[in-house]
Amino acid sequence: MPIFEALPLGLAPMAGFSTAPFRTLAARLGASFTITELVSARGIRHDPGLKRSARYLQPTGGDKPWGIQLFGQDPGDFAFAIDRVLSEPLYRPVSFIDINMGCPAPKVLKEGAGCALMRDRQQVERIIRAAVRTAGREGCPVTAKIRSGISPDAVNAVEIARAIEQGGAAAVTVHARTLDQYYRGRADWEVIGRVKQALSIPVFGNGDIRQPGDLEKMRSETACDGFMVGRAARGNPFIFRALRQGPSEVSTDQWLAVMIEHLDATVEALGETTAVKEMRSHFAFYLRGFERSPQFRRQVMVPARRDGVVAVLREAAKFRQASRLLY
Ligand SMILES: Cc1cc2nc3c(=O)[nH]c(=O)nc-3n(C[C@H](O)[C@H](O)[C@H](O)COP(=O)(O)O)c2cc1C
Repeated sequence: MPIFEALPLGLAPMAGFSTAPFRTLAARLGASFTITELVSARGIRHDPGLKRSARYLQPTGGDKPWGIQLFGQDPGDFAFAIDRVLSEPLYRPVSFIDINMGCPAPKVLKEGAGCALMRDRQQVERIIRAAVRTAGREGCPVTAKIRSGISPDAVNAVEIARAIEQGGAAAVTVHARTLDQYYRGRADWEVIGRVKQALSIPVFGNGDIRQPGDLEKMRSETACDGFMVGRAARGNPFIFRALRQGPSEVSTDQWLAVMIEHLDATVEALGETTAVKEMRSHFAFYLRGFERSPQFRRQVMVPARRDGVVAVLREAAKFRQASRLLY
């Protein structure tokens, strides 16, 4: 199965959103590949039975490529975690392992992990080498996801991406914001173009892809080899098709069916009580852009049972039906 088909368009890893049920929906509705949210390499070392990480590692359903994203700062932790994950029959079919070098969360940075790695080019190369050596034994490629740099004065994506390439990685994704931008301001796609020029391995562009036309725009500005979409896919797994084929109406029947499928798969995975709570953040995004949607966003927070949630969704569907929506 080719991991890097022509101009692939993937679902970006998003903590709390890139769950197996959502990844499965996104893949079925048009994402070329999906990636789990970040999973702690050290956490796996401390929990080799994978009890605590199992829910995050669950494979994406269907036959599209999917990756597991790990974060950490110690090459030994990554080697252990990759070895452990790839020795588990359920996770062994994973298409690639992605190393997180872009997370801006303070508790991740404090450990020297996530985007903090971009401060240390040599550590980046050591980590990639350790990951590639371990994953390579199972024929599994390693990729990495970085930011533009640390701050406007320290835009070092090219230098870090070169270290990643030298370490033996198969591809790099650039989220074109600096660490100190967090998720604010605009992504500076120019940095993606500079990384692409400097590297021989595929470079994926990420940041602010939101609407039809954006793929062509990013591609023409950067010559990138593929794309990842994050926030615009929350509550809108239909976006992959729209980005590729242009705006098209998502029927209310399909919209409702997808939300219920998402809910039911989450109930199946986590049990009803936890699933209903966790799905609230997804519904806060699904229930947008039609008459009285703010009211339904509030109402969907109330029920504790699956059937109560579905009743709110069905009521919302009546109002959405009345207002034509283009995705
Ligand atoms: C809620 C949330 C959680 C995220 N979690 C992760 C993560 O676990 N790993 C990662 O590499 N990036 C993570 N990101 C960053 C996204 O993958 C992506 O790089 C960023 O949102 C920019 O792309 P976008 O403009 O398409 O959203 C997260 C972003 C958001 C909004």
